Amino acid sequence: MSASALSGILNVPRLRADFPVLERETRPGVPLIYLDSTATSQKPRQVVEALADFYLHHNANIHRGIHTLAEEATAAYEETRARVAKFIGAASPREIVFVRNATEAINLLAYAWGRANLKEDDVVLLTELEHHANLVPWQMLAAERGIRLEFVPVTPEGTLDMSALPALLAREPKLVAVSGMSNVTGFQPDVAEIARQAHEAGALVLVDGAQLVPHAPVDVQALGADFLAFSSHKMLGPTGVGVFYARRELLEAMPPFQGGGDMIKRVTFSGFTANDVPHKFEAGTPAIAEVVGLGAALDYLTAIGMENIHAYEQAIAAYVLPRLQEVPGLHLLGTAQERRGAVFAFWMDDIHPHDIAQILDHYGIAIRAGHHCAQPLHLKFGVPATARASFYLYNTPDEADRLIAALYKAKEVFA
Ligand code: ALA
Repeated sequence: MSASALSGILNVPRLRADFPVLERETRPGVPLIYLDSTATSQKPRQVVEALADFYLHHNANIHRGIHTLAEEATAAYEETRARVAKFIGAASPREIVFVRNATEAINLLAYAWGRANLKEDDVVLLTELEHHANLVPWQMLAAERGIRLEFVPVTPEGTLDMSALPALLAREPKLVAVSGMSNVTGFQPDVAEIARQAHEAGALVLVDGAQLVPHAPVDVQALGADFLAFSSHKMLGPTGVGVFYARRELLEAMPPFQGGGDMIKRVTFSGFTANDVPHKFEAGTPAIAEVVGLGAALDYLTAIGMENIHAYEQAIAAYVLPRLQEVPGLHLLGTAQERRGAVFAFWMDDIHPHDIAQILDHYGIAIRAGHHCAQPLHLKFGVPATARASFYLYNTPDEADRLIAALYKAKEVFA
């Protein structure tokens, strides 16, 4: 894929104008090249303005007051819930619970559904690609309840070994919990196929959509996801808000996660009656302005089209992958060409990943170095850490060229 063919998919120069941060320099004369969107995305002006507008003109608590501001705030919050439902193809806004982030969504599932439904020796099937967010909550439950965790193995290319799935499903897991896209290898597992096989085996399916939802169209019903978790801040929205989706009958059957205001219908000194879903899972004052900001992010992404964003990133991935592979002494953790997003984790002979990140920063290039909250995956590949460059809709082939040029410079520095 040539750089000029890429510009036909998205009008990147036009949309970059919505992201003032992308115009800044990290030092005089050194423009920022932001390649760390997998950690958190940048925010367009429209999202920041929605936050500011809420705080400057509408701020009030929700579901509590009957004054005009409270009603406006409640309407804005609940309208966003409906927009989220539409964005992911949920059957009803009642299936959308606002939480803090994808991590909290998975903890909610492990705590509320897991403690009500899993007992000693029950199996939860995960994959070796998982982020700590979709691993540690289950390990905590394993320590408490004696559930067993099994793993679909990762391949040397950083994909999943789907041939192992039937034997693992024969162990009759209660839940199959799989990332929709690895934040390290960039691989996007065939979640629909995994869900089909998991359902045949009698398991429910959680998709960790932290990386998938920002980068590809998602329809929970078409995917067969019983549960979905994702974060606003990785999809142009504010930090502090995430989404837990669950099919309505599953959500209704789950006990509450946290107790407090708003999640109840009635409280006496001797007990409480839980509110209807989704409010049963939203104790206390939520991140109201941030939810409104997420609504603006959804509008922004929808106007561009998730299909277009997905196509652009696939093309960027196809552009970057061979160029990275040509850098002598560079090793990718994840070499798949198919079903991959534009995330590239790599290590280089004789240069520590933190040194790579520091040298790239000298050229204005922001990447992440470390284990990216996927330590077991790194250990499996025999490396403690990698450097990771990740691209989003606002990145250009020119920025990719500058990344590659800077990596050659890093090699020279350490030669
Ligand atoms: N999970 C985020 C990342 O991959 C923080 O960087």
